[in-house]
Amino acid sequence: MKTVGILTSGGDAPGMNAAIRSVVRTSIFNKLKVMGIKQGYNGLLNGEVEEMNLSSVADIIHRGGTMLRSARCDEFTTEEGFNKALNVIEVFGIDGLIVLGGDGTFKGAKKLYDAGIPVICIPCTIDNDMGYTDYSIGFMTAVETAVDAIGKIRDTSTSHGRANVVEVMGRGCGDIALYSGLSGGAESIIVPEVDFDMDEVCRRVIQGRNRGKLHHIIVIAEGIGNAYEVSEEIEEKTGAETRVTILGHIQRGGSPTVFDRIMGSKMGNRAVELLIANKSGRALGIKCNEIIDISIDEAFKIKKEFDINMYNMTKILSI
Ligand code: F6P
Repeated sequence: MKTVGILTSGGDAPGMNAAIRSVVRTSIFNKLKVMGIKQGYNGLLNGEVEEMNLSSVADIIHRGGTMLRSARCDEFTTEEGFNKALNVIEVFGIDGLIVLGGDGTFKGAKKLYDAGIPVICIPCTIDNDMGYTDYSIGFMTAVETAVDAIGKIRDTSTSHGRANVVEVMGRGCGDIALYSGLSGGAESIIVPEVDFDMDEVCRRVIQGRNRGKLHHIIVIAEGIGNAYEVSEEIEEKTGAETRVTILGHIQRGGSPTVFDRIMGSKMGNRAVELLIANKSGRALGIKCNEIIDISIDEAFKIKKEFDINMYNMTKILSI
C-alpha cells in the first residue's frame, strides 16, 4: 500500500471533514501518499484527483459539509462510467480507496471491490439508516440542529396557542424524528416504521389543550408522507390553528458535534490501518461503543431495526 485515495459521496454529513482529516494525517504519518478525489464518484471517473498534504486538512475538523465536495453520480452505474473510474484509479496509482457515505456510496464501493480494488467504507449519513452499525457519522449533529429548531418553534407555538407540525429528514428511517422528538419534548412523533393513528394524534392535541397546554409539537419523519395533509387533518379534527415547518437541508449542515468529530477521527484512522494491514472490502461501524469492521456484503444483509422500545417510551413521556 503506497497510495490511498479518498472520496465523499451522496448526501453530505457533518463529521465527514473530521474523517478526511484523519485519513490524510494517518496516511502521511505512515508514509503513504493520499489522493483526494473531488465530488464523489463523479471526480473518480473524470480524473478530478489531487494529492493532499498535512495543510490540505488544516482548519476543517469543526466545519460542516465536505471539503472534497459530494455528488450523486448516475454515470458511475453505467459500464462506460465504471471503466473510466477504473482507469483513473490506475493512472493515479491508487492502491486502496476509502469512501465516505451511505448506502448508495457503499454499493459503488462494492462494485469497485469486486473489480479488484481494495476499498474501505465509512458510514456517513444523517439518516442513521444502516442496519449493521449502531451509528452513522452526522446523525447526532442533525438531531442537535432539529432539536434547536423544535425549541424555537415551541416558543412561537406557545405564544399563539397553535399546533406545529415539524418535518425532519431521514428518508425511510424515523431515527431523526425519534431522537429529536424525544429530546425536543414533542407531544407526538410520527415515523414510517410504526403505523400511526391520526385520531390518536388529534386526541393528544385536544387533551393537551384541555389541561392548559399552550403549545403542541408534532414531529414527523419525511418518510411518512405529506406534512401539509397531516396539518390539515389536525386543524379539521381539533380546531387548533396548525402550522408546518419543513426543516430540510439545514439538518445536513453546521459544525459537527464533538461525537461526530471523534467518530470521524477514529474511523478515518481505522480505515487507513486496515488498508495497511491488507484488509479490504470492509465497512466500518460502531457496535456497543466499539469501532467494528465487517465485510461490505454482510453489511448489506443486516436490516436496520427501529428502536420500538424507545418509541413506546416517548409516548409515555409525552402524555
Ligand atoms: O440521505 C440524506 C438526506 O438528507 C435524506 O434525509 C434526504 O431525504 C435526502 O438526503 C435529500 O437529498 P438531496 O440532498 O439530494 O435533496
